[in-house]
Amino acid sequence: MDLFKENPNTADTWERLRADCAGCGRCELARTRHHLVFGVGSETADVMFIGEGPGEQEDLQGDPFVGPAGKLLDTMLAIIGLDRSQVYIANIVKCRPPRNRDPLPDEQAACIGWLDRQIALVDPAILVFLGRIAAMAYIRPDFRITKEHGQWFDVEGRRAIAMYHPSALLRDPSKRPETFVDLKTLQREIKSLNV
Ligand code: URA
Repeated sequence: MDLFKENPNTADTWERLRADCAGCGRCELARTRHHLVFGVGSETADVMFIGEGPGEQEDLQGDPFVGPAGKLLDTMLAIIGLDRSQVYIANIVKCRPPRNRDPLPDEQAACIGWLDRQIALVDPAILVFLGRIAAMAYIRPDFRITKEHGQWFDVEGRRAIAMYHPSALLRDPSKRPETFVDLKTLQREIKSLNV
């Protein structure tokens, strides 16, 4: 028995995950990125927000939701008395898709293992999916954001809810009242879970 060999059952760590993920070249998006956008926030957060993928500003700065959609996400958090230091924020894909197109299924498949490990490490009680792409990846492949936003689902034992992506709310402000209701639903759940 090799006592110095890494035990495959050893619990994952942030250090190991960051090292594994740094320099990822699992898909074509790696070729055009300026920065890999890993994730930010509290590594012990009770609530984790999951977006789709970095946009231009995120790609340039290396952090999620720092562009116009990120400003709106900050406002959404403030509405329920939170700020980004109290939650964890990450995306389905860690590198910017060209011209902000939807990440392709093979790009998502190549990347999602990193996010799975982030979710396991943060171990949040609540997952909040921002937009259709994120909800389809974790709740159901045929998830309908227009019909199913604001409803609770179970994702591997965690409470999960989807709401409109802040970019969609910037494009179509008429969706904002529904999102306000969804945020209040989320706030009630946070209170009732006492997290
Ligand atoms: N849109 C996303 O889905 N994620 C970001 O980080 C920025 C914009």
